[in-house]
Amino acid sequence: MIGGDGIGPEVTAEAIKVVRAAGVDIDTTDFDLGGSRYLRDGEILSDGTLDELPSYDCILLGAVGTPDVPPGVIERGLLLKMRFDLDLYINQRPFVGTAPGHDRPHEFVVIRENTEGPYVGEGGALRVGTPHEVATQGSVNTRLGVERCLRYAFELADSRERKHLTLVHKTNVLTFAGGLWERTFHEVAAEFPDVDTAYNHVDAACIYFVQDPHRYDVIVTDNLFGDILTDLGGAVSGGIGLASSANLNPTRTAPSMFEPVHGSAPDIAGQNKANPTAAILSAALMLDFLGETDAADRIRAACADPVSGTTTDVGDAIAARVGN
Ligand code: IPM
Ligand code: MN
Repeated sequence: MIGGDGIGPEVTAEAIKVVRAAGVDIDTTDFDLGGSRYLRDGEILSDGTLDELPSYDCILLGAVGTPDVPPGVIERGLLLKMRFDLDLYINQRPFVGTAPGHDRPHEFVVIRENTEGPYVGEGGALRVGTPHEVATQGSVNTRLGVERCLRYAFELADSRERKHLTLVHKTNVLTFAGGLWERTFHEVAAEFPDVDTAYNHVDAACIYFVQDPHRYDVIVTDNLFGDILTDLGGAVSGGIGLASSANLNPTRTAPSMFEPVHGSAPDIAGQNKANPTAAILSAALMLDFLGETDAADRIRAACADPVSGTTTDVGDAIAARVGN
């Protein structure tokens, strides 16, 4: 467990409470990492800590980032470092809800590539702070990285009732990366004759998320587009307080990591106010990955009816509902 910063430790505590109430006997170890730890002794994620992680089955993370540390330090040094070093190449984010202005629920899953694209940090800056400052920020897309992400998305779509997969990109502008994604998408599609496919530019996808979310079943997209689209996905599916995610290493060569889509929300930290549902639903994704699908389904069912109250009230109410 990496509770992390802000509301992170509060929401992960409720998530584990619910997992145990669902009858899963889980052993946990707390790792004190995040912005507060960094400010205390300088550790972000040491090689020693990173080497320890593979001895666990999975990681449940709350949120990282504190206003006292400049943006990027903890995000890149802890969260992205785990995504890259543990090869968590799939970021799976399910969305169920009724969007504003609609009268029936949608249900779709975004598969976000999680180890490449603009997140790699290719680029640099020269003459910073002068009128001659130059900043470049590249996007790295490899055939291997794109293909394994697309294949995962096709397999997922093939396993679902609708069997529909939409590629989201910006092939009309980002022609190099877009070309690789689009060509590979069509090549992998040939292996999945039962899966219907579609393509949307990312700007158009933003309209459809709001106006016609029912068109989607599985969406596959690049790292940065996936980051942005999944905040919108949360906003049209009951709010970011419900949005869960799984950072997966599908080959299981390292532990996968499960975390709510939301951040550390420092403004409400320590006030027992944060909605723990996103963390609880992320723990359900963790149980799916560990093969505890019955408990995961019970947790999802228990979260379906809204609960109000404090962080601990919500955790207690959901824990009471999942009891065997
Ligand atoms: C997310 C977050 C992270 C991301 C941040 C905290 C680095 O926004 O998981 O969506 O951009 O991937
Ligand atoms: Mn994000």
